[in-house]
Amino acid sequence: MNGDLVVVDDVPGAFAARVVDAFREREGDAFSIALSGGGTARRCYERLAVDGEDAIDWWQVDVYWGDERCVSLEDPDSNYRLGREALLDRVGAANATWPMRCDEGAEPYQLRVGELGRFDVVHLGLGPDGHTASLFPESAALEATSGRLVVINDDPLGHNPHPRMTLTFEGIARAHLVVVTVEGEAKADAMARVAAGDPTAPASRVQGGHVVWLVDPAAASRL
Ligand code: 6PG
Repeated sequence: MNGDLVVVDDVPGAFAARVVDAFREREGDAFSIALSGGGTARRCYERLAVDGEDAIDWWQVDVYWGDERCVSLEDPDSNYRLGREALLDRVGAANATWPMRCDEGAEPYQLRVGELGRFDVVHLGLGPDGHTASLFPESAALEATSGRLVVINDDPLGHNPHPRMTLTFEGIARAHLVVVTVEGEAKADAMARVAAGDPTAPASRVQGGHVVWLVDPAAASRL
């Protein structure tokens, strides 16, 4: 696997601390973060809203998404809605939010990420099938052509609902810091595959300026 493995009991707390540190160490005033979906992400954002309330000037933060389900932004399955509920509505501010809009296709987001250049932080989760963002096993996005930062994708094996928009591995690699948060026994097999560099587990291909895996003992139990 690429990056540093940190086994920690309190994954949301460790996530919040890493984001606060990244904000403090940012170059210039602006700060960009790409959010993830999933239950682990929700817990991480609820904690970041508390632990980062005073440490982060949210008026300096540009909020992106690493992937999105192709549903209404108000749909309960929307990662934008998750980010709003768990973080943005709680901190009450952001310099800008950049939701992924499937109905526009991938090009506008590709251009936006291209203009941004680098993310300060990209947050990712890990699926039990070894996916991260919406980079699913055997999916077309795994072989995106060079230069593609954002694509439309889906899960050909049918384990994950909805068509998606997602950063590609090249898009993720635009991050100064990639934080992958993994909790629970259900992720132990996927985590072991990633740690072994199993290429059929897409998350084992994640790269970035610095990649850190925050993994609880249950998810690390087969390492
Ligand atoms: C998504 C997420 C996805 C998620 C993992 C882990 O849109 O579904 O981006 O990559 O991070 O599936 O999700 P859990 O934390 O719910 O296990």
